[in-house]
Amino acid sequence: MLLSGFVNLFNNFKQSKTEKKFNPAKRKKLNNPIRLQWIPVDRIVSLVGMRDGRVFLDIGAGTGYISREVAANVPGATVHTVDVEPLMVAEMKNSTGVGNILPQLMEHDILPFGDASMDGAWSITVFHELDKTTSLLREIRRVLRPGGRLLIVDWEKEEEACEQGPPLHHRVLTIEVIEKLQEAGFNEVKATTGFTHHFAVLARN
Ligand SMILES: C[S@@+](CC[C@H](N)C(=O)[O-])C[C@H]1O[C@@H](n2cnc3c(N)ncnc32)[C@H](O)[C@@H]1O
Repeated sequence: MLLSGFVNLFNNFKQSKTEKKFNPAKRKKLNNPIRLQWIPVDRIVSLVGMRDGRVFLDIGAGTGYISREVAANVPGATVHTVDVEPLMVAEMKNSTGVGNILPQLMEHDILPFGDASMDGAWSITVFHELDKTTSLLREIRRVLRPGGRLLIVDWEKEEEACEQGPPLHHRVLTIEVIEKLQEAGFNEVKATTGFTHHFAVLARN
C-alpha cells in the first residue's frame, strides 16, 4: 500500500516535470509569424549588441524560427543555435536560406563551446521549462566573454496573457529570473521592455 503510494507520487512528479517541456511533436506551432510581432527581432539584435563579425548563441532554439530571422538581420554575425531535443535540431538543420546560423545538439547543461567564445546569447520561452537553472546559467557565463550580454525572454505570468503559451502555473515571474541570474553571478541584471505577452531580462557577464 505504502509502496504503491510512493510509486504514484513518483509518477505524478515525473509527469509534471515532463509536461513543462514543449512537446517536439508540436514544433510547427513555434513557426507562427505572429510570434515575430510579439518578440521583435530588431529588439533582440539591439539588446544583445549584434554586429558583423560577432558570435552569438541561442539556447533552446527549438525550430530556429526566431533565430533565423535574427541571423538574417545581421548577415555578418554568426549565430549558434542549440537545443537538447534532437527533433528540433534536425528541423533546424533542414531549414535553409540563412547562411550564418549553425545548429547543434547540446546535452543538458553542457554547451559545446569554448570559454568566452560568445559575444552574446539569448534564450526565448525556455526558462519556464527548466527544473533547475543554476548549472545552465553558470555554463552560459562560461561561454560568454566578459561583458557579453544574455537576454532571457519568457511568457508573462498574468491571467490575461494566458490564452497562448504554457499554463499559468508553469510560467515564471520576471523577479524570479532576475534573482536566478544574480545568484549565478551576472551583473547589471534588469527587466527590459519591447515585447508583447512576454517579459525580458537583460544581464551582463
Ligand atoms: C517553447 S520552445 C522555444 C523554442 C525557441 N526558443 C522559440 O522561441 O521558438 C522551448 C525549447 O527549449 C528546449 N529546452 C528545454 N529545456 C532545455 C535545456 N535544459 N537546454 C536547452 N534547451 C532546452 C526545448 O527542447 C524546446 O525546443
